[in-house]
Amino acid sequence: MPKHFLSLLDYTPDDLARTLALAAELKTARRARTATPHATALAGRHVGLLFEKPSLRTRVTFTIGVGELGGSVVDIPSDVMHADREPLHDVARNLERWVDAVVIRTFAQARLTIFTESAPGLRIVNALSDEEHPCQALADMQTLQEHWGSVEGRTIAFVGDGNNVATSLVHAGLMLGAHMRIATPKGYGLPPDVAEVAGRIAMKGAELKQYVDPKEAVKGADAIYTDVWTSMGQEVEYAERSKTFSRYQVNDAMMARAKADALFMHCLPAHRGQEVSDDVMESSASVAFDQAENRLHAQKAMLVALFADKG
Ligand code: CP
Ligand code: NVA
Repeated sequence: MPKHFLSLLDYTPDDLARTLALAAELKTARRARTATPHATALAGRHVGLLFEKPSLRTRVTFTIGVGELGGSVVDIPSDVMHADREPLHDVARNLERWVDAVVIRTFAQARLTIFTESAPGLRIVNALSDEEHPCQALADMQTLQEHWGSVEGRTIAFVGDGNNVATSLVHAGLMLGAHMRIATPKGYGLPPDVAEVAGRIAMKGAELKQYVDPKEAVKGADAIYTDVWTSMGQEVEYAERSKTFSRYQVNDAMMARAKADALFMHCLPAHRGQEVSDDVMESSASVAFDQAENRLHAQKAMLVALFADKG
């Protein structure tokens, strides 16, 4: 297993399958309150949490998850990351002397690689960057496996912005053999490198298709996924994006075009009345809070693997 988790592309499809199997095992054990050998997987380990953007789910689930694996969390205030205080590589080299891993939520993905390159003793986890949100995709796949058994051959339609959540969802879905459809307004599609790697990572004949028309993309889909139209860091574009994305709202009419038993997915936070209607958010099709719960189990599984061979 890789030493860092910056991207789903750090995993092979087998790594992903193994992590999801462990996530399911950890969830069952936690619910039954049965002891597992993983309760000491991080014993004596310190994990720093360094978040440059707000977070509810990621922060809480990593805090609880590290504790349940026997490790301890250190909250590092984000103001230490300001360039006029200390260069990022020096922050990394300090942390390397005290902690074993750092879970980082940041802007450019390149800020994560500054950490991996300047502090080789650290394990680094991407807790969301502008480009990717791999921890979210682990929980998303766990959720779909719970509902479907397997995602292989299923069709997942993402409607909205071709953002960090969409990118990691595509990576994970293709690696597990799901057909991925992404519907975005012109100019808001997936970054070109996502389509470029698709052929290499796709298993079992899975395909990535990109659309501008959301109605076409969701036709007959097994799940419809959406996320906010304006991501953290893009707030100045809010008014313009609200206009551009208005026909991309996932509402009852949009859900009606998918399969009758299609699931609705959202990474949260959700903005009801914008990317999703209140009705769909509260409908029985919605698995958004299952996804939120699974952040805990999926990240614990990822952490167990991350520390499995650390001396
Ligand atoms: N989905 C997600 O990452 O939530 P937070 O931003 O609250 O961590
Ligand atoms: N795309 C969103 C996801 C939040 C979990 C953002 O980056 O703000």
